[in-house]
Amino acid sequence: MVLSWKVVSLLVGAISAQWRHGGGGAYAAVLSSYPGYCAKDMDLNSIPSLDDSVQASFGGGVSLDDVELLQVHAMIRHGARGPYTKPRCWEGYAENWDCNVTEVVSPSLSADDGGVGATGLFRKLYDAYPSDNALSGTCMAGQLLDEGYEQEQANGRHLRDAYLCGNPSCLAAANATAKELQDSGALYLRSDDEQRTVMSGQILTASMLNVSGAVLDWHTGDDQYDYLAPNLETCPRLGELSGEALNDPSWIEVTSSWENTALNESMTSVWEQEVVWWDVLDCLMTTACTGRELPEGSLLH
Ligand SMILES: *[C@@H]1O[C@H](CO)[C@@H](O)[C@H](O)[C@H]1NC(C)=O
Ligand SMILES: *[C@@H]1O[C@H](CO)[C@@H](O)[C@H](O)[C@H]1NC(C)=O
Ligand SMILES: *[C@@H]1O[C@H](CO)[C@@H](O)[C@H](O)[C@H]1NC(C)=O
Ligand SMILES: *[C@@H]1O[C@H](CO)[C@@H](O)[C@H](O)[C@H]1NC(C)=O
Repeated sequence: MVLSWKVVSLLVGAISAQWRHGGGGAYAAVLSSYPGYCAKDMDLNSIPSLDDSVQASFGGGVSLDDVELLQVHAMIRHGARGPYTKPRCWEGYAENWDCNVTEVVSPSLSADDGGVGATGLFRKLYDAYPSDNALSGTCMAGQLLDEGYEQEQANGRHLRDAYLCGNPSCLAAANATAKELQDSGALYLRSDDEQRTVMSGQILTASMLNVSGAVLDWHTGDDQYDYLAPNLETCPRLGELSGEALNDPSWIEVTSSWENTALNESMTSVWEQEVVWWDVLDCLMTTACTGRELPEGSLLH
């Protein structure tokens, strides 16, 4: 009868994409559909009900009515975000990133104060340098976009639909509040300390559970030591492993192959600046998933 349940909001960057038809001038990006990476159709992520094959796998005449759901592991990415690693992706990059999504925060002196009445709420706006923030526009670098907000609401709804109800195949009652689950130890909320992951997890939680009027504990850690992402500080061995991998002949063979060298040269000429692989996914997918146009020549890659 024990409810074993933890919701961990994982970090990894998810982006949402879209490819525009046509386009003109110096830009031309033509693809007929968004890559799955863009998660444009969140219905694809709904959670199917258990079918007979699951029941059959129990064997011995045990049916779904005889068993009880103990735990669920759901891996969730943060929603669509703006560029993070490289604010000026290529020569002539002039994209504007505006976010309606904002953080509304409240300072608190006491760990057990019940609400926000005394201090009120403050909206954080990244507009102090309208044209010279990391990104041009009102989004902070790597911020969750409006679309990302909606994606996480959908994730929360899917989890709610699948796992909250009144019978043993569910994790909690349909009217369960996040506060009572947290107070009973059934709910633990943890993310790294990036805006997009904190907010993604909070949107998901608020969409899945009744959070009305509650102050919930949200656990995070200093980025410098947080192990939710590979961390050399916390795991020095990672540096050795990474060094071994990067010096591995098979890795060197691939990265120095003529294909990769040619690709590098070609992309360098399209972007008109040095191309670092780490930036490529960030730049291409934030552009493609939001219907922006890629530099001419990018599609050849
Ligand atoms: C987002 O902001 C834009 C510009 O301020 C506004 O036109 C639009 O209606 C807003 N969208 C939502 C969902 O609030
Ligand atoms: C949820 O519903 C049950 C029975 O319908 C009730 O006993 C319980 O108090 C409700 N819980 C909340 C938090 O409203
Ligand atoms: C959410 O929980 C609060 C109590 O914390 C309750 O007053 C409210 O009716 C609940 N809302 C819904 C939609 O169940
Ligand atoms: C491309 O070549 C440049 C110059 O040699 C190098 O600095 C850069 O790291 C290479 N990029 C990739 C993605 O291999």
